[in-house]
Amino acid sequence: MLISNNNEQLFAIVRPLREVRSLGDSRRRSAYSATFAPGRAILSDHAFELVTLKSGIKSLRLIANQETFHPGIGPIAEAQILHVQQQRLVERCAKPGRFVIWDVGLGAAANALCAIQALQHCQADVDMHSFDLTTAPLEFALRHAAELGYLEAYQEPTRHLLTTGQVSLGRVRWYLHRGDFRQEMLRPDLPSPEAIFYDPYSAAGNREMWTLEHFSELRRRLDDDTSCLVTNYTRSTVMRVTWLLAGFYVGIGAAIGEKAETTVASNRLSTLDRPLGRSWLQRIALSHSASPLRDALQPLAPIAPEDWTRLLCHPQFNQQEPDQ
Ligand SMILES: C[S@@+](CC[C@H](N)C(=O)[O-])C[C@H]1O[C@@H](n2cnc3c(N)ncnc32)[C@H](O)[C@@H]1O
Repeated sequence: MLISNNNEQLFAIVRPLREVRSLGDSRRRSAYSATFAPGRAILSDHAFELVTLKSGIKSLRLIANQETFHPGIGPIAEAQILHVQQQRLVERCAKPGRFVIWDVGLGAAANALCAIQALQHCQADVDMHSFDLTTAPLEFALRHAAELGYLEAYQEPTRHLLTTGQVSLGRVRWYLHRGDFRQEMLRPDLPSPEAIFYDPYSAAGNREMWTLEHFSELRRRLDDDTSCLVTNYTRSTVMRVTWLLAGFYVGIGAAIGEKAETTVASNRLSTLDRPLGRSWLQRIALSHSASPLRDALQPLAPIAPEDWTRLLCHPQFNQQEPDQ
């Protein structure tokens, strides 16, 4: 119990923050509406445009909220670093057996195709389940395959996936699930994953995919006997707290572009290379925006005492060596 001796000290830090909560709510509320507004029209308005990133690489942008897919270093570089490398896909799929990937937010299929490319010589039988509410971004991307580059060699299998819902590429069987991931993931016939590429739109316009309720459900959906790693682009404190309270172990993920770090989560502490530790927890106690994201609308706020107590009791902070 490395941290329990210091619980009193940490409680002492957080207590004065309860007073801060009652101040300046309107300012926090406007910050909140800019960052964590509820889902809006964006999911019903699936119009896209091609954008040229600083690097000269092309990507998609959802016009309704101006959200660019893989905005920093481009689709393939981001997919490679964030998902393929961090998931150690090639290594984990080098031996025979079944390996299940959930690709959440198929979008324009950069993550999925980057994984397929990396796994072309794998020994495992890989089932990759891609989820999306809509195939509009993929259809748009196919119309611009030449400009985007990464899709060019995969146009035929990708069209086959769109038409039939599944396609085989080498040892990878790729499935498409149209619908809301929050419901799709509960289907009992869907095998539990070893790897989740978590890539829906950001919480700014797609809040329901980022709530404590949703992540708690996702954590319960994982098989406790199978270690699963979730890779994602966020580095937000709110999301890290939300994932921890949902029952995940949470660690620092790879840098991408100008983002010095991202976030990974797992149902096993041993899966994480750089788990968040005590010094991170101390920063949470002092943060003005560390309250987990819940279904109910709430302003960005310091963590509430009951959530703080749950964080302190999280096994991540009571098992590991300090510290990051
Ligand atoms: C940023 S794009 C994903 C980019 C994609 N991973 C790629 O590699 O091109 C986000 C995608 O998440 C999908 N999405 C958002 N909310 C969803 C939900 N509740 N269920 C399934 N898909 C969702 C959107 O329709 C969109 O295609």
